[in-house]
Amino acid sequence: MFKIVSIPGDGIGPEVVASAIRVINTLARQHGLEITIEEHLFGGASFDVHGEMLTQETLEACRKCDAVLLGAVGGPKWENLPHEKKPEAALLGIRKELGLFANFRPAKVYDALVNASSLKPEILAGTDFMVIRELTGGIYFGEPRGYDDTRGWNTMVYEHYEVERIARLAFDAAMKRKKQLVSIDKANVLESSQFWRNIVHEVHKDFPEVELIDMYVDNAAMQIVRDPKQFDVIVTKNLFGDILSDISGMITGSLGMLPSASIGSSHALYEPIHGSAPDIAGQNKANPIATIASAAMMFEHSFCMKNVADEIYSAIEKTLASGFRTADIANPEDTIVSTTEMTDAIVANLEAS
Ligand code: IPM
Ligand code: MN
Repeated sequence: MFKIVSIPGDGIGPEVVASAIRVINTLARQHGLEITIEEHLFGGASFDVHGEMLTQETLEACRKCDAVLLGAVGGPKWENLPHEKKPEAALLGIRKELGLFANFRPAKVYDALVNASSLKPEILAGTDFMVIRELTGGIYFGEPRGYDDTRGWNTMVYEHYEVERIARLAFDAAMKRKKQLVSIDKANVLESSQFWRNIVHEVHKDFPEVELIDMYVDNAAMQIVRDPKQFDVIVTKNLFGDILSDISGMITGSLGMLPSASIGSSHALYEPIHGSAPDIAGQNKANPIATIASAAMMFEHSFCMKNVADEIYSAIEKTLASGFRTADIANPEDTIVSTTEMTDAIVANLEAS
């Protein structure tokens, strides 16, 4: 028996989460799994009702469940709130409160979409790597922080245990893949990066089978677009991971395709990488695949059912191969399908398998 908390959130969030829930329910039926899904408010949707983006009630529910499925938060309506009330602050709050220190963002190119990227197909074909981003430390959370009329300041700081635990997790992930880990920092300029690098090397001693490569973040940005196939597992600090995971996402053709998992020692949250896309919200146009793939990551990481995750991935691949395209991944000659049509097709492929 698994308990999921779903947080549709804002913009296209409710539409894509509804799609993922249909997929989850289909699989639960097929595999005889008892899965309960409880919906909670978060972000702007919560602010409009409670005057708070993240309530204690939602937080408690997230603490008590096996996995959280999040759509997206934010939109123009809430953009002008003070900094600490913005949806982004709530997202950082939920990460911190649930201790979700590791963020997994796969950059995998679907064969059917190799022409949808801004990169040449021959550079891209076969790209399949994982960005592991530290998520609850570094400059995102460091103190002191602030600004006044004459200065603005933030602090990039890491504690030993924060680097050690993410490094361990990244080496573990590398052991399950191609045994190659690229650690990305800016140790030529930043002391906090030299500290990061030293600890990653310390942890490496426990994983002698893994090849460890250090790379500066500017070079890494260049290498990801030059030759993305050289990467298998990347581990990096919070801010660098934010930037590099968007680059990695974009080369795969569409952010609308990419899931993520944020994992801590006792909680996990799954969400698509794309945002709330307010311009297309409520129009049944959003690509549900990133959220459906996030559900796949949930089956794999939180429920330890890699077989079910693989069923989802192959249903997505089949659906793409038979030509289904939402607007974000369509070429001019393609017929564009809606969120529900894409979901129907994926569910049908699951039912047929
Ligand atoms: C992300 C987002 C967030 C981040 C924002 C919305 C706070 O860009 O998940 O990558 O910077 O971490
Ligand atoms: Mn980001």
